[in-house]
Parts: sequence; C-alpha cells; structure tokens
Amino acid sequence: MGSLKMIEKGNPAEDTRLFRRCLGFFGTGVAVITTRHHGKNAGATVNSVASVSLEPPLVLWSISRTSRSFDIFQNAEGFVINILAKNQVDLSRHFASPAPDKFAQIATTPGWNDIPTIDGALAHIECQSENSYDGGDHVIKVGRALNVCTFEGDPLMFVQGRYAVAVDHPGMRVRPEVPKHTEDRWEPVPNSMISLITRVNRLLLQK
Ligand SMILES: Cc1cc2nc3c(=O)[nH]c(=O)nc-3n(C[C@H](O)[C@H](O)[C@H](O)COP(=O)(O)O)c2cc1C
Repeated sequence: MGSLKMIEKGNPAEDTRLFRRCLGFFGTGVAVITTRHHGKNAGATVNSVASVSLEPPLVLWSISRTSRSFDIFQNAEGFVINILAKNQVDLSRHFASPAPDKFAQIATTPGWNDIPTIDGALAHIECQSENSYDGGDHVIKVGRALNVCTFEGDPLMFVQGRYAVAVDHPGMRVRPEVPKHTEDRWEPVPNSMISLITRVNRLLLQK
C-alpha cells in the first residue's frame, strides 16, 4: 500500500477551522438533546454524544457555553438524547437554528420529568444529570441513562461537515448486530460501479 497524500496539517490552537475539518473525519450520529426546567423546554442538535460506561449506564455530550439554552440545560435535572433517523435532516437543522420557540411545530411526547421526547426519533435515552465538567468553550454533561427506547429505522449520520447515511461496507455480507427480523440487506443500484464491486466481493467471500 502506498502512503496517502496529505491534505493539510497545522496547529489547531491557531486554526479553529482546520481543527473542525480534522474532527469531521470522525463520523458520528446526530441527536437532539431535549430538556425541561421550570416549565421551559430547550432543545439543541448535537453530534458530541459518546457512550461512557455500561455499569452504571453513563453517556456524555457537550454543550457550547454560548448556547441560548445553556442555563436551562445547566439547571435541569436531566435530559433526553433523541437519536435522529435518516429522514430527520430538517429536524436536525431546526434544532441547530436560533428559532425562538423550537418546539412550536414539533411532535413530542412527554417522558421522564415531563421532558419532551421527539416523535419519529430512532431512539430515546432518558438521563438524569450525573455531572458537568469544564470543557473549554463547552461544558461536558454526563448523564445516567434511566430508560432507553429504540424504534425500527436507519440512523442519520454526520461526517466531514455533511449529513450522510450508513451503508454496509462492501466487505460485509450482512449487517452485524442487526436482529434476525431485518431482511433488508442493503442492495446498491443495479449495474452501478458499487453494485459490481459488491457482487465481486460477495462471490469472493463465498469461496
Ligand atoms: C450536526 C451538528 C452538530 C452539533 N453539535 C453540537 C454539540 O455537540 N454541542 C453544541 O453545543 N452545539 C452543537 N451544534 C450546534 C447547536 O445545534 C446550535 O448551536 C444550537 O442548538 C443553537 O441554538 P441555541 O443557541 O438555542 O442552543 C451542532 C450543530 C449541528 C448541525
């Protein structure tokens, strides 16, 4: 294998955009974090969600100190991580915008502590706030998952600054870790280059 051609390099402390572009190579899912405090709802689109611990069940995400909802998130007893489905790009954009009432046109169902859960999301993780840590211009929020709920569908992804969908790697014959009932093995567009590569790959793997 030859060496890869370098795109760019530099000091992230001197070039925030470079840092952001570099982090963009780490693809993530997309979630809307919702919360409620003293009768006020707040919601923000994030891609900083990460799993922390299985026992006890802990997750984290980070919120910008400049978020208009910062105080609500800091004071609330908990939050819900609504993991978005691939058909929820508009919803993601909406909760990333400075809309005055983000919940006005959005279908939600109240859950733990009356915090709204977003209808149509692929998963809800209801969390009690466990800890907050300084994270530079962000605050890292750690939550203890109290209830989780998942639905059928495909996740929305975010990579290199763009929305994306997850497809099987051509080397995969079936999706790993997907329950048996899932018959929807991914098939590429017939006669496309990716379709030919996938077919050759499958034939090679059968040998
Ligand atoms: C894909 C994506 C990921 C984002 N991830 C984060 C994040 O992890 N933390 C954060 O504070 N803001 C993140 N943002 C920006 C917030 O969504 C946005 O600044 C905020 O919701 C604006 O509204 P607010 O000021 O009412 O909170 C992200 C935006 C997008 C589109």
